[in-house]
Amino acid sequence: MKKLALVTGANSGFGMLSSLELAGIGYRVIATMRDPTNAGELLKRAEELRISKQILIEPLDVSSSESIKAFKERISHYSSIDLLLNNAGFAIGGFVEEVSIEEYREQFETNVFGVMAVTQAVLPFMRKEGKGKIINMGSISGRFGFPGLSPYVASKHALEGYSESLRLELKPFGIEVFLIEPGSFQTNIWTSGKKIAPRSLVTSSPYFSYMNKIESEMAKEKRGNPAEIAQIVRAIATGKIHSFRIPAGKGVRFTIFMKSILPWRMIEKVVLRKLKVR
Ligand SMILES: NC(=O)c1ccc[n+]([C@@H]2O[C@H](COP(=O)([O-])OP(=O)(O)OC[C@H]3O[C@@H](n4cnc5c(N)ncnc54)[C@H](OP(=O)(O)O)[C@@H]3O)[C@@H](O)[C@H]2O)c1
Repeated sequence: MKKLALVTGANSGFGMLSSLELAGIGYRVIATMRDPTNAGELLKRAEELRISKQILIEPLDVSSSESIKAFKERISHYSSIDLLLNNAGFAIGGFVEEVSIEEYREQFETNVFGVMAVTQAVLPFMRKEGKGKIINMGSISGRFGFPGLSPYVASKHALEGYSESLRLELKPFGIEVFLIEPGSFQTNIWTSGKKIAPRSLVTSSPYFSYMNKIESEMAKEKRGNPAEIAQIVRAIATGKIHSFRIPAGKGVRFTIFMKSILPWRMIEKVVLRKLKVR
């Protein structure tokens, strides 16, 4: 029997590339997405790689309890699920004063509660088998609180704590939990996957010029190749990685290390100077 993997947000970016990578090493992949009509690129690439038979497209909106419920019923006939990649996510930016509570909730519904709901749906399979791997897609934003991005930063920080508890809870049951922490990679999260709270975008906003400085710094960033993240997923799947946190991308390890040794007042001086707001 081929191993079975479940990937959320599999129609683009890390999710799509990881699905292809997992199918390439012999997994059957339940590639889930909000709208299965968006599976075209994934299926085209799978066809080219002659692995399309290993990919099964399923609808799943991780922020919708009805969608999760229907999905649980559809997967109930599987005898085991060997790997879960909690990848679906998007980013809401804006300044705290100008982000509505509804926008914070919307961010958490997908990036945090979505991960929790899908994990709960899959855990009984893994626990019964006494094995499995759960990979959560964290972010450098889960380790560092960038300004103008607090909904996303808060959601990824929450995912860090959740993943730590999960790792410790599941280790005795033979289930390994991983947290990939990517820096900046070239995917749709910078375009269709990003929303800025509209009030921070109008010239009358007191944060308007600060927001512009952040946006122009972000635009200068050299973004990594998302295939690097899919390679990490492959390495986890094939048992080459066992460590819990996996920082990835240019400067990420360095940033985390500097944050751990420098006093906060120095960190904020560097960040604010870089953004030219002080
Ligand atoms: N790229 C980076 O620089 C970077 C860095 C750190 C962490 N990450 C994390 O990596 C993960 C994947 O993002 P990506 O960079 O690959 O961007 P992406 O290409 O925009 O992919 C995000 C995927 O998540 C899906 N998604 C969003 N909300 C969903 C929901 N409610 N239910 C199901 N699927 C949903 C999107 O579906 P639709 O196409 O339908 O919107 C899309 O398939 C995210 O968790 C993101 O936070 C990315």
